[in-house]
Amino acid sequence: MRAVASALLKFAASSILFSHLSLAGPTDPAYCAKCEESAPGFASLNGGTTGGKGGPIVTVTTHADLKAYAGLDGPYVIRVDRTLVSEPFGYEIPIKSHKTIIGVGRAGKITGGGLTVKNERNIIIRNLEISGTYNPADYDGKQNDFDGVQVDGGTNIWIDHCKFTQMWDGLLDLRKDTNYVTVSFTQFSEHNKAFGIGWTDNVLSKMTIHDNFFHSTNQRNPSADNLQHCHMYNNYFRNLTAYGTYARGATQLLVEASYYEDVNDPLHADATAAIRSNQVRFKDCRGKREVSARPEKVFKASDFYSYQLKNPDDLPRTVPGAVGPSPEIGIWTSGWRDR
Ligand SMILES: *[C@@H]1O[C@H](CO)[C@@H](O)[C@H](O)[C@H]1NC(C)=O
Repeated sequence: MRAVASALLKFAASSILFSHLSLAGPTDPAYCAKCEESAPGFASLNGGTTGGKGGPIVTVTTHADLKAYAGLDGPYVIRVDRTLVSEPFGYEIPIKSHKTIIGVGRAGKITGGGLTVKNERNIIIRNLEISGTYNPADYDGKQNDFDGVQVDGGTNIWIDHCKFTQMWDGLLDLRKDTNYVTVSFTQFSEHNKAFGIGWTDNVLSKMTIHDNFFHSTNQRNPSADNLQHCHMYNNYFRNLTAYGTYARGATQLLVEASYYEDVNDPLHADATAAIRSNQVRFKDCRGKREVSARPEKVFKASDFYSYQLKNPDDLPRTVPGAVGPSPEIGIWTSGWRDR
């Protein structure tokens, strides 16, 4: 019996191999590399975050076309293959549910404006550089609310391999009970207000923030107000002038495998927030280093999903080159679809 079973297995294995060989070749259809990947972390829960997977794949080279496709109903994978100049200045393109907006290699950029999500779900924003509304006459960003990405009440959102820099107001604002979010491999740099979360009295938002580089920003790295679960790991923070990571309100913050370098008040909880931490490094930092504040209140991330911590001492060397748009994402490639 065992011999028969193993012969059958061998036959099955060789026919799979053969079908690969017979189909692979120059006539293969092209596939959009990594365009159908789905989110890890909290964005993988609540049904998951797949964006436009399964829908048409379209390529845009104008701001007007990005706006048109992002506003359609149903799933679309929208490749951005150029620098799109926002019209009007500061405009945030609204994205409807079930979209993947993905830069082609390092070509996908939006300058002079950003993106917004209002009460929509299942959206992936990936491999894009967003910049260019900063006004040095209004460093505090009081006169205009021009953000890189602003989400008001979005659910299942994945922001990955993006680079945000130099906007008028915040680089990334996740507001009003936005939930099931993962922000990964993204660079926040050269700005006052980097990454704000909150603007709500409810305590239900769950977010995973991993493998990001916060560099030469002033405040909000992030500022995390009233998050039920905020999980941060494998992040590298360098040259943050006002403060680093700030847990506010009823936030439960779990910080693991992170490296803060040359940061003022790197890790801080206000009187009601809670922090538990594991393998956090501080180098040349000043001020508050609250690695523990009411830690018994803080959740265990492994109760929700699996994840891998990196060696925190490696992060200054590995994170800066791994964040932001990648030449391997969003390009056409032939051969077997990597699922
Ligand atoms: C630190 O960040 C500030 C902006 O917040 C910038 O002006 C300065 O050049 C940065 N310093 C280094 C060493 O990168």
